[in-house]
Amino acid sequence: MAVSGAGAVLAPAVPSPARHWPRRWQEQEPLLERQHERLEALLTTLLQEHIQPLPAERLELSDQAEQLACRRLLWDLRLHLRLEERWLERWDALCPGHRGNHREAAQAAIAGFVSRAGSRRGRLAWLQELDGWFTAHRQGPDAMAYALARQRSPAPPATP
Ligand SMILES: [Fe+2]
Repeated sequence: MAVSGAGAVLAPAVPSPARHWPRRWQEQEPLLERQHERLEALLTTLLQEHIQPLPAERLELSDQAEQLACRRLLWDLRLHLRLEERWLERWDALCPGHRGNHREAAQAAIAGFVSRAGSRRGRLAWLQELDGWFTAHRQGPDAMAYALARQRSPAPPATP
């Protein structure tokens, strides 16, 4: 057997997405804003679903699907917060209070989900709290930090 075959198996078939992640704030900010939009849309969808009553015959299956969707939301939110921290830190635009706010919100969201995921009413209250935090956070600490990152990042090179 040829030894070169092992290298081919170990080599990634496609380049790692991390290699293509933007390095400049002018490219990072739109990506973070798109994540904000997606998270808000997911929150809105889940809130609408949880407000509507479910027919008894669909209750169990829909309940499981809704729980899974909430877990996905939590996962996506934590990934977003980590990426935002990483990029804001890069531009010296992440203050300790902002990071602490992320940590507290993530811990509260996890604890709230664990204690209330079993009931639709509990999940609805959890989603409403998370939605309130997310909106206020985006308009407050995030808006200020993004403006700071804009100031501290170098301007993009001029195009000829
Ligand atoms: Fe933030």
